[in-house]
Amino acid sequence: ARRTTVLSRTAVGATVPVALAALFAAASPAGAGTTGTAGAGDPYFPLAGNGGYHVRHYGLTLRYDPASRRLDGRAVLTARATEDLTRFDLDFQGLKVTGLTVDRKGARFRREGQELIVTPRRPLHRGQNFQVAVTYTGTPKPVTDPDGSLDGWIPTDDGAFVAGEPQGAMTWFPANNHPLDKASYDFTLTVPAGRTAVANGVLLGSRTAHGRTTFRWRQAEPMAAYLATATIGTFQVKQYTTRDGIKVYDAVDPREANAAKPVLGKLPSVLEWESRLFGPYPFRAAGSIVDHAPDVGYALETQTRPVYDSAPDLATLVHESAHQWFGDSVSLTSWKDIWLNEGFATYAEWLYAEQHGGKTAQAEFDALYARPAGDELWEFPPGDPGSGANIFGTPVYARGAMALHELRRAVGDRTFLRVLRAWAGTHRGGHGTTAQFVRLAERISGQDLGGLFRTWLYTPGKPHSA
Ligand code: ARG
Ligand code: ZN
Repeated sequence: ARRTTVLSRTAVGATVPVALAALFAAASPAGAGTTGTAGAGDPYFPLAGNGGYHVRHYGLTLRYDPASRRLDGRAVLTARATEDLTRFDLDFQGLKVTGLTVDRKGARFRREGQELIVTPRRPLHRGQNFQVAVTYTGTPKPVTDPDGSLDGWIPTDDGAFVAGEPQGAMTWFPANNHPLDKASYDFTLTVPAGRTAVANGVLLGSRTAHGRTTFRWRQAEPMAAYLATATIGTFQVKQYTTRDGIKVYDAVDPREANAAKPVLGKLPSVLEWESRLFGPYPFRAAGSIVDHAPDVGYALETQTRPVYDSAPDLATLVHESAHQWFGDSVSLTSWKDIWLNEGFATYAEWLYAEQHGGKTAQAEFDALYARPAGDELWEFPPGDPGSGANIFGTPVYARGAMALHELRRAVGDRTFLRVLRAWAGTHRGGHGTTAQFVRLAERISGQDLGGLFRTWLYTPGKPHSA
């Protein structure tokens, strides 16, 4: 995020402080210094993430009272310094910090917008493991995204809908809030008895005492902060294990239950179908959270367990499930590459329909291609949406899927599926870029695909070839 002061070695071996902000002016609201490429200098979200360290694990202990909307939290981050650091930033917006330690010793901190700037008593050395513990309290408020939608901790009438793409994680826990930095998570969530708190991964246990229930969740596989959830409500819960040994946990708001049940029942077969296409499901847990959150207007592929603002249709379930491979297991390196998430999840919908008696992908493509030049579909190219305000725009989803369909037509079905599987397999649990995807497709197909991707991902306006 904003400024990370590093100690760098000069030629003569002296240690001098250098503001990392000077290395990426784009990340600095003050605009001081030169441009550069260090750290999490995401051009669309310059304040997201932070340089100088990697978080390995988040331990989040939260207590929420839906009636007063008060959240009390404690976050323990286990991290490793990637530079010598005299101080570092976390992303944290809104809530009041009541205590902060680094390696159990009180540390100085201050707030500047979404930055929580921490100065440990002693500088951290490159390669050093350290632990940051933050205690905090207050009434969490969602952030408004550049496109006007809400994300983060969004209160509902019986709890909270919690979904953080792209920026909302920082509304409920201090984080290195960029998909570049993935970590494992433990959640200990306490809510009034009768409410259920659902996070990512596997439920380790729950316990009710003194009118409150505590749920313990573990997300073992690495996860980007925006994919974390701690959604709270009055839910009907169903748990089972699939034939593949995946632990499923469904939580459904009773107001959505009739509409949701037949769709959620298809989750195991959808995951099996996607596993056949994309390779093994990347996580040990799965499930769905179906909330009743009329103010939200979207679903999110929260890792292992997508969260829906209302009962999803089957296409949406297929879409969020496909994100488990494309977006969750294989993460973005930069938000600009968002089509790697949304184009792929949309194409999964097309493939599903095609193989289950619905429209063919070609018919989907043709119907979209028929849209006139002035249509929003052609407003910007999906590989370069231009700003954070466009990352969930129609071109990212639909023209992103069209780009994949063009790839499929160019290389043939078998090679196309080999590319998708290799993408999910090679980058499993890690990251990918558009350039890496193009190279992989070229390597596997033995074809020069530069023109195809330039046309479909990067050329403004309606492409001529089709
Ligand atoms: N990734 C989500 C999907 O499955 C969309 C998230 C939209 N988020 C937002 N803040 N508008 O398509
Ligand atoms: Zn999506």
